Amino acid sequence: MKKIMVIAGARPNFMKIAPLLKELENYKDQFTVMLVHTGQHYDFEMSESFFQDLEIPAPCVHLEIGSETHGIQTGLIMMTFEKLLQKEKPELVVVVGDVNSTLACSLVATKMNIKVAHVEAGLRSFDRTMPEEINRIVTDSISDYLFVSEESGCLNLEKEGVNKEKVHFVGNIMIDTLLSNMAKIDKSVILKNHDLQTKTYAVLTLHRPSNVDSKESLLEIYEILKNTAQKIKIVYPIHPRTKKMMERHSLLNLFEELDNFLLINPLGYMDFLHLVKNSKLVLTDSGGIQEETTLLKVPCLTMRENTERPITIDEGTNILVGRNKARILEIVDTALSKHLNGSKIPQFWDGNTARRIVNVLTQKI
Ligand code: UD1
Repeated sequence: MKKIMVIAGARPNFMKIAPLLKELENYKDQFTVMLVHTGQHYDFEMSESFFQDLEIPAPCVHLEIGSETHGIQTGLIMMTFEKLLQKEKPELVVVVGDVNSTLACSLVATKMNIKVAHVEAGLRSFDRTMPEEINRIVTDSISDYLFVSEESGCLNLEKEGVNKEKVHFVGNIMIDTLLSNMAKIDKSVILKNHDLQTKTYAVLTLHRPSNVDSKESLLEIYEILKNTAQKIKIVYPIHPRTKKMMERHSLLNLFEELDNFLLINPLGYMDFLHLVKNSKLVLTDSGGIQEETTLLKVPCLTMRENTERPITIDEGTNILVGRNKARILEIVDTALSKHLNGSKIPQFWDGNTARRIVNVLTQKI
């Protein structure tokens, strides 16, 4: 029996591990699976609610790290995870995405000569001021099995000189979760709860340090939202980091008092995806939401200068807009008056990614 440890720590990890854990259940005679939660995210809305919505089994181990600076958070995860690995000695550690937990756990495992699989490998924004970009580069450079969600990932890894045998183009695991939960997503009553009508509002999410950490950028965003809200109602489930920053800069009241702007707590998975699916457009700086809107064919205005997920622009509904107010307002006008250009679903975003990953693992470990 081989032992596999699956790591999750922050909100965007949970929808990536859910299908993997489910698929691994079919191989109970071959693998013992241990789920480890690092505790990078800990609020009910940022963690537990996803375990409930996505029926993820309770973690075997919770490292309870919590929020800290990057160095301390990464270091604390490494210290506690090393002890766990010494005790459990798994054959494989699976990490997903690009958060600090991904980096910390892959680094510890590889130094103990334990194989590492990285799900969502190869994505590059080519912007090293983004903490996630450092996490991606380091994790990929030390992982043994690289599971890639879109073709750009394969090209990036090839350019970085990664041995082709390590790279497996398997598609997007988050899409497995989205497709398999569509009936439940459709049943959400979140629109009714907030008195919203289908396709009459925009959804906003913002949490990147480059957008929310400084007073200047928050004020720029305020101007953009004030103007956009004159055209369409905006619904904003606020990330705790952003709330904290708005409070620190004494700006929360300003945002709360915006007209045609609904500021709400973070939502669970089904409610959030229902909100997105039925929206007219999305404004975001998230990574995963660029992909979910592509699948759902909802126009996505990404408030960043770059994306590590270029397929969402080339084939999907994504448009990079940064904090360019004029451009944002122009695209909002277009989205409101006509259908934006047709999009298609990228290769292997078909709900079978977990199956493809586990198929590789059964042959390799
Ligand atoms: C992390 C990931 C980011 C991901 C995002 C999704 C890293 C480097 N960043 O960013 O890639 O897109 O999660 O949410 O790993 N906080 C709470 N409650 C929580 C969690 C966080 O209040 O449950 C607040 C704390 O004030 C904390 C801040 O949010 O200091 C930032 O949390 P952190 O985990 O450091 O990074 P995120 O911004 O959430």
